[in-house]
Amino acid sequence: MFSQDELKQQAAQAALDYVLPQLQPDSILGVGTGSTVDRFIDLLAAHRADFKAAVSSSERSTQRLRAAGVTVLDLNDVSSMALYVDGADEVDHQLSMIKGGGGALTREKIVSSVADRFVCIVDESKLVEQLGAFPLPIEVIPLAREAVAREVRQLGGQPVLRAGFTTDNGNQILDVAGLRYGDPIAFEAMLNNIPGVVCCGLFAISGAHVALVAGQNGVSRLELQD
Ligand code: A5P
Repeated sequence: MFSQDELKQQAAQAALDYVLPQLQPDSILGVGTGSTVDRFIDLLAAHRADFKAAVSSSERSTQRLRAAGVTVLDLNDVSSMALYVDGADEVDHQLSMIKGGGGALTREKIVSSVADRFVCIVDESKLVEQLGAFPLPIEVIPLAREAVAREVRQLGGQPVLRAGFTTDNGNQILDVAGLRYGDPIAFEAMLNNIPGVVCCGLFAISGAHVALVAGQNGVSRLELQD
């Protein structure tokens, strides 16, 4: 029986095996945030000469990438990116995700939006029939925290301020339990429209293109047809 840590390592290895054949010397690779991605970065170190640079979704990943000898570029200096690799807190079979358990959701959504393909790497505990058991992280402008909290209560959610946490963008996070998404794309759009919401951790309008899911019987690949 593999532990969750071992499965994360297998997902990271599968991501490396997936991206390496697609990398060119001038390739820019998008890199997400989290414990699964940390393992991917560690594996990437031995292949840093196979691509030009990375764009990172957090200060945490930037530090780890630089420590691994990978050049990290500002997103403003990059016009295209073939691949973005990141974990998730939940992913469903339509490859919609909940993200932001590590607090990097806003930069993750921005950086991944520039990439042609989002490669989601998870252990099998993250693969769900329906999104929603994991409380939804919502990054808010501090001034708007209580106003946003009132709005999400109206939607049936129970918001809790992530205590002692400030995002890389200087904002706060509400973790919202109890939401039922119904139509996740419409729900994400509705949350995006609440004044003071910087970003929500629902990735349904743009989900992953492929998920590499590490389980007890190996890594399976879920892919939507284009
Ligand atoms: C970071 O903000 C998150 O979106 C992560 O991608 C997510 O929490 C998965 O993290 P782990 O790989 O640590 O489970």
